[in-house]
Amino acid sequence: MSTLAIVGTQWGDEGKGKIVDILSEKADYIVRFQGGNNAGHTVVIDGTKYILHLLPSGILHNDKKCVLGNGMVIDLEGLLNEIEFIKRVGIPVEGRIFVSERAHLILPYHKELDAASEKIKGNGSIGTTLKGIGPAYRDKAGRVGIRIADLRDEETFKEKLKWNIMEKELTLKNVYNYDVNFNFDEIYSHIMRIYEKVSHFISDTVSLLNKAIDSGENILFEGAQATLLDIDIGTYPYVTSSNSSALGISAGTGISPKKVEKIYGIAKAYTTRVGGGPFPTELKCNVGELLRARGHEYGSTTGRPRRCGWLDLFALRFSKLVNDLDGLIITKLDVLDAFDEINVCVGYELNGEMIDHFPSTAKELSAVKPIYETLPGWKKETTHIKRFEDLPEEAQNFLKFIEDYLETPIPMVSTGPQRDEIINCCEIW
Ligand code: IMP
Repeated sequence: MSTLAIVGTQWGDEGKGKIVDILSEKADYIVRFQGGNNAGHTVVIDGTKYILHLLPSGILHNDKKCVLGNGMVIDLEGLLNEIEFIKRVGIPVEGRIFVSERAHLILPYHKELDAASEKIKGNGSIGTTLKGIGPAYRDKAGRVGIRIADLRDEETFKEKLKWNIMEKELTLKNVYNYDVNFNFDEIYSHIMRIYEKVSHFISDTVSLLNKAIDSGENILFEGAQATLLDIDIGTYPYVTSSNSSALGISAGTGISPKKVEKIYGIAKAYTTRVGGGPFPTELKCNVGELLRARGHEYGSTTGRPRRCGWLDLFALRFSKLVNDLDGLIITKLDVLDAFDEINVCVGYELNGEMIDHFPSTAKELSAVKPIYETLPGWKKETTHIKRFEDLPEEAQNFLKFIEDYLETPIPMVSTGPQRDEIINCCEIW
């Protein structure tokens, strides 16, 4: 048996889709454990771009099984659309997709609440994807959520849906001043129609995965969003609503933490963030614009331009600590090919003093001054390089600097969006 997890270490969009796609080769199961269709995992195969929001990136390998774990929140219509899309491109789905019956549903009122809550916050808004993720998790924690398993029993679903519609209408009207009426019959029959089409993909994934592990199969856990967006240890409140670091794997799958063997992080060679919240190394200048243009930094779920900045090793050290990483995979090295000099943040100064820990409040993190080390750029194309030794010396030194600072190996370096634009430095599994 072998279990391996891949998690983002920054604020998301590190390129997890491509890396998970490559590592899926050796996996029997690829498993998502948190989030919902706020994720946008991009995989490019033979020039065709696939953007997945709910299904694990392993779905593009015809013989792999894909699991949507109990920690996820599922928009059933989004799920059906994605399954239809995968079928249309000629990839088989039957017998390959397992959606946890314990996962919670995202319903139309969650999206309205997401929009209303963002609007009322004004300048302090989180900048959510407006997919209803936060409100769905809020219902889960409030113990009023509706789980996929509830759809098996029409009476239970009707009862819960009625109560939720009543509660959400009251909240929207009285708290947010939104005049919304949800049509119970319409929502009920819409959801049941979709459920009929996807019900054969629903199962008890907790038993399935534990059995798979016990019988020696290889499991690859695919994180969505990233460590600094984790609800507990991320840059709260500018985070998503789930445990999007490795901390979420166990709760989001029903697998004991004792069974997660290896955890690798992914980081871009620079940093991006989409949505609001502090971002110490952000570059609001032509350097940031160049990073955005070269890295095509626009959200794959919302299309929003991503905020761009230098690599923040101080933040990554925190991510390494929290996830206890076995190594860090670096993506988008090629984006830095055009720079004369490259800055990397090696520390934070707060109120004139160097600090030794990653701040826990948004106020403190907004106030820190990043301390940079400047490294020489390489000004050569790295995209088609396949071996570490063939990289320009400055690029090798940049990667070694990261390894030394973080005291962790870099087993893979991605130098472009295609599957084969990768440098394998050592075996991952
Ligand atoms: P939510 O997950 O839609 O509630 O959004 C909360 C925060 O997480 C916002 O700042 C989003 O931009 C960010 N976020 C959510 N999903 C992703 C993602 O896949 N990549 C990057 N940021 C994300």
